[in-house]
Amino acid sequence: MSLSNIIFPINFYHQVYGLGSETDFIKVNQNLSYILNLVFEKIEYLVLEIGFGRGDFLLQFSKDNPNYQIVGIEKSERLVKEVAKKLERNGINNVRLIHSMADFAIHFLIPYNSVDMLIVNFPDPWPKKAHLRRRLINPNFLKLLYNKMKSEAKIFISTDVEKYKDYILDSVEKAYNQGFHYKVSRVFLGFWDEKYQTKYLRKWLKQNKKIFSIEIIKK
Ligand SMILES: C[S@@+](CC[C@H](N)C(=O)[O-])C[C@H]1O[C@@H](n2cnc3c(N)ncnc32)[C@H](O)[C@@H]1O
Repeated sequence: MSLSNIIFPINFYHQVYGLGSETDFIKVNQNLSYILNLVFEKIEYLVLEIGFGRGDFLLQFSKDNPNYQIVGIEKSERLVKEVAKKLERNGINNVRLIHSMADFAIHFLIPYNSVDMLIVNFPDPWPKKAHLRRRLINPNFLKLLYNKMKSEAKIFISTDVEKYKDYILDSVEKAYNQGFHYKVSRVFLGFWDEKYQTKYLRKWLKQNKKIFSIEIIKK
């Protein structure tokens, strides 16, 4: 089975463009719409899911929304390969996977003004004070993402960690104060739709943990 039509590896541009130097790399970055157009025939509504894990959400969501073009970004190569196989077995053709750290992929592969929706289900919590900077959602991440999102695009995040929920709300405020105008439009207890059972959602529901969900709009 060939996975090459699904996996979008970090060295994708080296393969496609045969690039050799960092200068070439930056040149490609100036017209990123190229890259997604190479992997999707047409982009109507672009959704990113970061940290898709075993892909439960990605699989169901892509089946339910065949008109969306969905890009999954995951740092674990094992999980990318596992989910690529599941997508292929299920005949899903509106998803592409990027094996990369999210900030790298967003910076180098996602075009400006292209993202309609971003989903992050249960990001790693990094609860220790010394590790807070490792949290995926932070002011710098929101700034990096800002120009990649369309106006009125939405970010959906769920976490089981109340302090992470507060940290995300603070991050939105910090980014806003620096000119990156996001607005928190909803914060509630529970998950968006329990039809989409992810591995971690199942785990936390079993343990009767509270789940916090946040919707953010890019203004
Ligand atoms: C706690 S798991 C949640 C998995 C899945 N969303 C779920 O709900 O079952 C976090 C996932 O995010 C991935 N991840 C963590 N940091 C990441 C990053 N910076 N870029 C891409 N993926 C990341 C991890 O490898 C892991 O699969």
